[in-house]
Amino acid sequence: MRMEGKVTKQNENVLGARKNRRSFFKNGMIAAGAAVGAGMLPGSLPAFDREDDDRAPITKGDIAILTFLQALEQVEADLWIQYSELGGIQDNEVSGVNGGNAAYMTALQILDGDMPQYIHDNTDDEISHAAFLAKYLESKGASPVSLEPFRVLPTSKATGANQNFKKDGGRLTNLMQLQVDTSFWTRYRSITNPDFDLKATFAQATGNADGSNSLVSGGRFTAIPRSDDDTAGSDANNTADRLKAIAFTAGFHFAFIEQGGTSLYPTLAQKVTNAEVLRILLSIGPSETMHFQTWQDKAGNATPLTFTDPVNGSTVVFFDLHGAQGESQDEITNAGKVLQANLIMPEPTHFLDANAFPPVAIIRPTSTKNGGAVASVVSFVEDGLFLDAKGNNTGIVPVLMRLAEEADEARRRF
Ligand SMILES: [Fe+2]
Ligand SMILES: [Fe+2]
Repeated sequence: MRMEGKVTKQNENVLGARKNRRSFFKNGMIAAGAAVGAGMLPGSLPAFDREDDDRAPITKGDIAILTFLQALEQVEADLWIQYSELGGIQDNEVSGVNGGNAAYMTALQILDGDMPQYIHDNTDDEISHAAFLAKYLESKGASPVSLEPFRVLPTSKATGANQNFKKDGGRLTNLMQLQVDTSFWTRYRSITNPDFDLKATFAQATGNADGSNSLVSGGRFTAIPRSDDDTAGSDANNTADRLKAIAFTAGFHFAFIEQGGTSLYPTLAQKVTNAEVLRILLSIGPSETMHFQTWQDKAGNATPLTFTDPVNGSTVVFFDLHGAQGESQDEITNAGKVLQANLIMPEPTHFLDANAFPPVAIIRPTSTKNGGAVASVVSFVEDGLFLDAKGNNTGIVPVLMRLAEEADEARRRF
């Protein structure tokens, strides 16, 4: 098994040949500009620029970025497949071939009637991201990462979950002891930006009554029914609080996962050299944002609920976010009041220099420190995605961290 991508001899040759061509184009461009004068041929120069960029090679850094993303997309696909088995519409396209879990689907539909379709489609998207990136790496002579040795985590025992998990290699992720960070909620509703307002704090959307604590107080919570015990008292028509709490946890977890991808792609895109690789990142990344946008709209429909898990004693608290106060002009002194459910468009925030520029509606964070590859892996680890039943992380974590460090170290060249 290869753990990392490698630039082939062929690619390095392309790299060498490119430099001459680039200087030719550069010189050619200057000559053309001199001949026609400033302001002429407004359409030509961008075309020349594009040609020039297209000849920037795929660098080792580009391969490191693609390799990391191909690994992380497998993680995403794995967790979404688990959600889809239980809560997605059932067809042969993704893994929904076990009939689903009618009670869980009903619970999820408290958030939106289309939840099973959206869960299915998010799953489909992640599978396609991982598969595309693997093929693309191969097409460039680099090796995709195999995470198969880390398919060691248990599956749900609830109706609808794939019980052939051992035969199928087990799970990469564990959705049954999560601690979901819901601070993305207030981050996107506030004027402060973690990349530029270093002292900014972002309240959780869930937790204690003032919104100041995390989703789980006193332990970790499951986002899927662990067994049919979790769906007891619930059916296709009625949802008991126990299953409501699980479905709402899932609803916020969907948004948490996808806001991570929403920051990761633009963060890594800033390090890409080759135009085609940049196009890949700029094309996949916004699909993560489409997911995030959808999920935060749905999570806001959670109904007020406090529930303590009878299995592990963890308590989750959900608020009526429809009744919450809206955007802030002064988030630091107004923490906890940026919770309004339907503020799903990114509120304008500080960017680059708060003194020089007005607030602007953007994705945030996009710094390596807050939104890069290592930050993404750390957030998944803290989420509890790789915890085994004994509370230890599986061997996937050091592998992902190494790939993440290599991706974060990439620098745009030329
Ligand atoms: Fe993805
Ligand atoms: Fe995603």
